[in-house]
Amino acid sequence: KSVKAFAPATVANVSCGFDILGFAIEGMGDWVRLEEKDSPGLEVVSITGDEGKLPKEVEKNTCSVAIQAMLDHLNVEIGMAIHLEKGLPLGSGMGSSAASAAAALVAANEFLGNPFEKKELLPFAIAAEKAACGAGHADNVAPSLMGGFVLIRDYHPLDVIKLHVPKGLYCTLLHPHFELKTADSRSVLRDSIPLKHSTIQSGNVAGLVAGLYEEDFDLISRSLRDVIAEPYRSILIPGFNEVREAVKAKGALGMGISGSGPTLFCLSKGEEKAQAIADAAEEVYQSIGLGVDVF
Ligand code: HSE
Repeated sequence: KSVKAFAPATVANVSCGFDILGFAIEGMGDWVRLEEKDSPGLEVVSITGDEGKLPKEVEKNTCSVAIQAMLDHLNVEIGMAIHLEKGLPLGSGMGSSAASAAAALVAANEFLGNPFEKKELLPFAIAAEKAACGAGHADNVAPSLMGGFVLIRDYHPLDVIKLHVPKGLYCTLLHPHFELKTADSRSVLRDSIPLKHSTIQSGNVAGLVAGLYEEDFDLISRSLRDVIAEPYRSILIPGFNEVREAVKAKGALGMGISGSGPTLFCLSKGEEKAQAIADAAEEVYQSIGLGVDVF
């Protein structure tokens, strides 16, 4: 028996929605293939596309951690050999660990005859994120599993809502050539935030969600602001301010850090603008001598 599944890259936070908003990106992602194994237990047999950087230990690899959480929940022991094909760069802020976990869970679910709805796989994926970066955030795994634009209204208990997305909303991803680990990028954040920042951030989350439903691109643009994480994290990302200025001049609705970075995301109305944004950003990276992939 052999089962293969894909899960896409994701943009988490979407500026104002720290740990509660994320969306899936079409096309890019990770593949996981599972094969039946004679002896019980999981084994990470092969990983490609990671330059040998990912752990194969069952208790560390996000694929095996996620599947093990699922098997523990079902109270079954079964033998599975895991083959992971990374399509996503590590430490990029594009939901790389989440895509591996999500693909592994979709494959394992199919392997077992689909006992779970997609949404029900979320707690197992969150367990994998916790193993990967120390925090069980769901804003990458939820959109990677469910597709589209997702809100995590609450974690206890999990309350996940798929949001409406207006037609013509494009995302440009700018992935500079260096790694930033989520754990490191979380460690620069503060434990508490001033009341006035909470007010600003709540206003923007509400504005962004309203903007998506109203298909009001100006409102979306006004709401793409982050006073909680970005002030601390942007310091870790060379060229952040220059890129922002350049893409705004090309009509970007907004630019922010994709998840925990260093990838930056820009939203725009229409494909032409998305392309102009990509070109302008590439020029900035070139001028500061930093390699970049643009998606
Ligand atoms: N919400 C998470 C964070 C996303 O910002 O740390 C990590 O990709």
